Parts: sequence; C-alpha cells; structure tokens
Amino acid sequence: MCGIFAIVTKEEQALGPILIEAGHRLSYRGYDTVGVATIPQAGEIDLRKDAGMVQEVADRYNFAEMRGDRAILQLRWATFGAPSQPNSQPHLDSDGGMVGAHNGNVVNNVELRQEFMAEGMVVRSENDGESCVHAVERYASQGHNMLEAMRLAYHDLEGDYAYVIGKTGEDRLYAIKKGSGLVAGIMPDATCIASDLPSILPLTRNIVRLEDGEIIIFWADGFEIRKVEDGSLVEREPELVEDTMEAVQKGGYAHFMLKEVHEQAKVAGELIHLLDKSPDVMPFLKRLKEARNIYFIACGTSYHAGLLGSIYLGRLTGHPSIPVLAPQFIAQYSSAIGPEDVGIFISQSGETKDVLSAMSVAQAQGMGVLGVVNVVGSTLMRESEYHIPLTCGYEISVPATKTFSNQVVTFLYLALRMAGHDTSLLNNLPSWIEQTIAAVESQISAIEKHVTPWNDLYCLGYGLTYPIALEGALKFKEITYAHCEGMLSTEFKHGPLSAVTEGYPIIFVAGPEDVPLIISGINEVTCRGGRAIVIGEEDARLHANAQDLIVIPTIDAPAELRPYIDALLSVIPLQLLSYQSSLARGYDPDFPRNLSKTLTVD
Ligand code: M6R
Repeated sequence: MCGIFAIVTKEEQALGPILIEAGHRLSYRGYDTVGVATIPQAGEIDLRKDAGMVQEVADRYNFAEMRGDRAILQLRWATFGAPSQPNSQPHLDSDGGMVGAHNGNVVNNVELRQEFMAEGMVVRSENDGESCVHAVERYASQGHNMLEAMRLAYHDLEGDYAYVIGKTGEDRLYAIKKGSGLVAGIMPDATCIASDLPSILPLTRNIVRLEDGEIIIFWADGFEIRKVEDGSLVEREPELVEDTMEAVQKGGYAHFMLKEVHEQAKVAGELIHLLDKSPDVMPFLKRLKEARNIYFIACGTSYHAGLLGSIYLGRLTGHPSIPVLAPQFIAQYSSAIGPEDVGIFISQSGETKDVLSAMSVAQAQGMGVLGVVNVVGSTLMRESEYHIPLTCGYEISVPATKTFSNQVVTFLYLALRMAGHDTSLLNNLPSWIEQTIAAVESQISAIEKHVTPWNDLYCLGYGLTYPIALEGALKFKEITYAHCEGMLSTEFKHGPLSAVTEGYPIIFVAGPEDVPLIISGINEVTCRGGRAIVIGEEDARLHANAQDLIVIPTIDAPAELRPYIDALLSVIPLQLLSYQSSLARGYDPDFPRNLSKTLTVD
C-alpha cells in the first residue's frame, strides 16, 4: 500500500538523504513508484519521480543532491493508473505552485478528473493522488486559505485516504487524515508526518497521532491540529513512544499473525472500495463470461480461496469452473487447455514457482491468464493479462490470513457481479469481520485446551465451508506442527472415523444451511467418544448435539446470501484457535519451522 512522508526543517539543508531513508523505511508496505518534491519559499518546486525501487529511482534522479526546508516523499502502490512516471506521486496543481501526495483510495477519482478538466485545470495523470491536489486547488483558487480549501475539498473526495500538501511562498505543510494512517513526529528543529509510526521512529519518539477528520498544519518548530468539521482547534500533546521498533511494527499485538488477523476488516473495506472503481474489473469479468472453461489455479491457502471462489461462481452464476492445485494443473490439464479457456492464478506473493510454472504452461497454450495477487510488481502481476491487487499491504507472518480473506472477498465480489447482484451488501463486511473477531476471541481460550494435547485431529466442513475446513486444517498443521486433516464432513465415515477415541477432537464448520447434515456427522463421532467442536451461528440444535460451539455472529444479510459470507467469517475462529494452540505449545506462529513465506522452488 502507498506511504507518505513529509518534513519541514528550520534551516535549508540536504533533504535528499532524509527522504531516501524514509523511502526505505516505508518500502515494506509494497510499492511500484517513488517520488519526492522539495518546496522552496521562493522559486519552483523540484519534483522528481518515476516507477522503480527506492534506491534505483533515487540514483536515477539524484535525490541525494536535493536541498530545502520542506519536502514530501511518496511511495505508490498502483491502483488508479498504471505504475508510470506521470502516475507517480507527488503531483503538482495546474500552475505548479502547489504539490501534494496521498495514501489510500479516492474512489470517485474518475469523475473528479473529468470535473477538474472541465473547470480548466491541468490534469497530468490518471492517479487519484492528483485529485487531492486539484480538489484543494479548486477552492484555493477561489481565494480560500489552505485550511479552508482542504476543509471544503474533504466533501469532494470520497474514499479512505490521507494526504499531505504544500505551496510555495509559505513555511508550512498541511496533512489530513480520513481512514488511512497518519502520524506526526516532533523534533527540536523539524516536524514530520508519515503514514506509519515505524517510518518516523528513527527520527524521533515524540509523536502525535492524528484521528480521522483532522488536519495538521505543521512548520519547523510547531504544529496545530484542526477539525475538518468546523475548523476548531484540537488540543493534543505529543506522546513519548518507548516501545522497541519490532513492537511498534506489530502495532501493539503480540505477533504479526494476530495483527494481520485483526487487519482483515480494514483491508476488506479497502479492497471493496477499489473493486468498485478498478478499471481492470470489467475486462476481468468479460474474460470470465466468455470463457469455455475457467480454472482457479494456486497452492496452499491461495488454493483454498480458489476452491471457495469456484463454489461461489458455480452457485451464484451457474458457470462451472475447475479449482486445481498449480502443479496438478500441468499434470492434468496441459493438453486440454486452449485460447478459449481462462485461468485465474491466485498468489499472495506472485512468485510461487509452482504457480508461475503453471502460468507458463497456460501462456504457451494461449490460455487467458488473470492474476489475483498481493505483492505489487511481482512476476504474476506483471505477466497476467489483467490482475486484481489484493490491497492487503505487507503480510509478514508466514501463515496467510488477511490475504486469504481478501482473495475470498474478491471471488465473492466477482461472482455477485457476474450474477448481476448488487455488491453494496459487501460494504458491511468490515463491520461483520470486526464483530466476528470480537465475538470469538473470548471463546477460543476455553476451547484451545481441548485441542492442544492432541497431535492429530480433523477439521470438517461441507459445501461452502469445505474450503474453510481445509484452510483451518492447514493453519493448524503450519503453526502447531500437529497433523490436522481437513475433509468433507460426509467423507469422515468412509474411513477416518476409525481414528476416533475418547476425547479425540473433531472440528466441524457448520454453515447455516447445512446444520442438519453436520449434526449427523457430529453424532457419528460423539457416540464413539469423540469431542465435537463446532463453529457456527447461534443454534439450539448445535448446542444440543456438540460439546463445544464457537458462536459466530448471525449477520444481517439477505437469507440467500448469508451462507456465502458466513463461510468467510468462519475462518476467523480457526485462525485464532490455531494461533492460540501454537502459543500454548510454545511455538512462534509468525515463523514456523521449515517454512518460508515465498516458495520459489519446485
Ligand atoms: O504466495 P502464495 O499465495 O502463492 O503462497 C502459496 C502457499 O505457499 C501459501 O498460501 C502457504 O500455504 C501459506 N503460508 C499458508 O498459510
């Protein structure tokens, strides 16, 4: 995801090295273009930017020589507009006297650009960061001061974002927060802002956290915060951050995995905003509609998301599709595919060798290659015909969590769109995810003690929850080192039932439409001494039949669509239960033994 950094210093000085360092610190967020601007009080803004890595662009444009007392840096992760020089940030206003950069998504960017051009402004890119600058320009050119112009522009810019902006002839910069992160750092002879705390901490531990709907005006030795709503002054003293850098990066959570589980609500919201506006969604859908066969191709967690995607597509659109593990795709289908077919290649990293090899085979046969991928600039992203970015930011923990949920959100969104359904229902997802996390967190510790003593267990699901059971089992295997097999619940009686002994744990994921069938499965194991741990909505039948019920909220969605969302929410207790069990066994869930986040080998 994008990142911004800006600084105002007392004396003119070499700002290039400070900006390059800030760029390196923000780069963990993922990006594909880099840009900086210095803003003199008299004279022209010096703007240098392009696609590429921080050091590469800095060397190409000699950032190191840049001097001044005000500067802005931006790392952009392409959403609106390709990763190119014009679409790189920061952006100038029409006459070049103002410059700004943003982080987040301005979702009405396309409409705004047309308005700005119709009003005679000079629009140089397709990027939504430029819309922030012109939105301020629109009111500044009418005579409003910068604060007033930003307050008025706030009503024009839809979406979640933070931006920083400055103009020549002044000694200060301005930044606003609406949904995206923004923190200020206070130093004896400089003030800075950034998208996150870790990128400020090497400069100062004296911090001011901004809240949504606030504007910070900052100069070398001071700042003031104003409310967007009425322009009133907000009193806030800087706080001293004493945590270690690692603790700060974990955002107060004990592990990256826990942080990333909690981030699922936020990243789902960002993705839905993006999907509504992304220019790649329509051609993506067109390719799917016209395809003879659709394949979902991936490995590990990404494969489980593809499996659920295939079920969504089949049930909502009536279009059958083939979910397949990437190496098996080569083994099974390489002689069956052709230009009439389309493959959706799914990968967090975009670099998994098994997936890239399958993609090469598909390309050689002329098959359509669509990507669903998290890491910007990855091979899968670059080589696919169209791609949908997962917008999860950096997933540090080896077990995939937030990228799984955003893969599933992507497929649900596409299936709903293909079926002609309204997707606005998905705007509730962030709140439903938050409610689920809050509801299940307190229930997990009572259940964990029935699971952790066992090095062998099962996780069963049916229909929409079958892929969730596979994903839950993978999380257990990966971070508890126990053998946990994911399986279709109806298959359990065809063999594995013989493993059941007194107390043997079997986790059932019960979708609301499958409760009677799951109850049969529960009784098959409980009558043999097994312990049935069920994940499902509040249901007297489940309470009556299982030893344990982890209750997920019953969401307020239309009855025919509730099971689709319920399946996604059901993965959360499995993520948290495996996390707790990993801790109880004394392991580090972020970095399980023998595993690597990105598997670039066969
Ligand atoms: O980067 P990818 O999505 O292509 O990775 C595929 C698998 O290696 C990955 O999902 C793995 O299974 C996860 N670490 C599981 O949590």
